[in-house]
Amino acid sequence: MQASDVDEVLAIECAVQAYPWTRGNFCDALESGYLCYVDECDGKPCGYAVLMMGSDDAELLNIAIAKAYQRKGMGRRMLESLVQIARDRKMSRVLLEVRASNPAAIALYRLAGFREIGVRREYYRSNNGSENAIVMACDLEKRGDA
Ligand SMILES: CC(C)(COP(=O)(O)OP(=O)(O)OC[C@H]1O[C@@H](n2cnc3c(N)ncnc32)[C@H](O)[C@@H]1OP(=O)(O)O)[C@@H](O)C(=O)NCCC(=O)NCCS
Repeated sequence: MQASDVDEVLAIECAVQAYPWTRGNFCDALESGYLCYVDECDGKPCGYAVLMMGSDDAELLNIAIAKAYQRKGMGRRMLESLVQIARDRKMSRVLLEVRASNPAAIALYRLAGFREIGVRREYYRSNNGSENAIVMACDLEKRGDA
């Protein structure tokens, strides 16, 4: 993802996320050196993801696919690529938080090998006040492990 992609990324974000990131969130992610990717369809961004590398764990901060391209396997392929990138960088795990009310994302994460490791109570704001975050992890084999 480049700064020039942010307009189109933001348009997708506002269309598919109930509580979208702001332009500032995407610009901060780029400026902070997080790994920010776009997938292109017909020369335009149609999906994107933001991955933050820690010292031992990577954290998936955002992933979305434009409505017209959903349920075609793009989210799964993008997530598998991100997990591979984390593995290549010798991370132990990929972590993420997901709204308890987002069954599509939870199904995708489970399919990609993530498991639930905890709940952050009333972590997100929602129409009803707040909702829980489910914390999920994908354990990665470290190279050189027996
Ligand atoms: C979650 C999201 C990224 C999935 O992307 P996608 O490209 O549509 O997903 P895929 O086509 O790769 O789906 C892979 C699997 O995930 C599950 N899945 C995806 N969307 C689903 C849905 N709407 N309902 C139920 N399961 C779903 C299915 O198991 C699916 O496999 P199948 O199509 O063979 O049944 C997409 O729905 C999206 O952008 N949602 C809005 C943003 C969001 O919620 N992001 C995650 C939180 S930050």
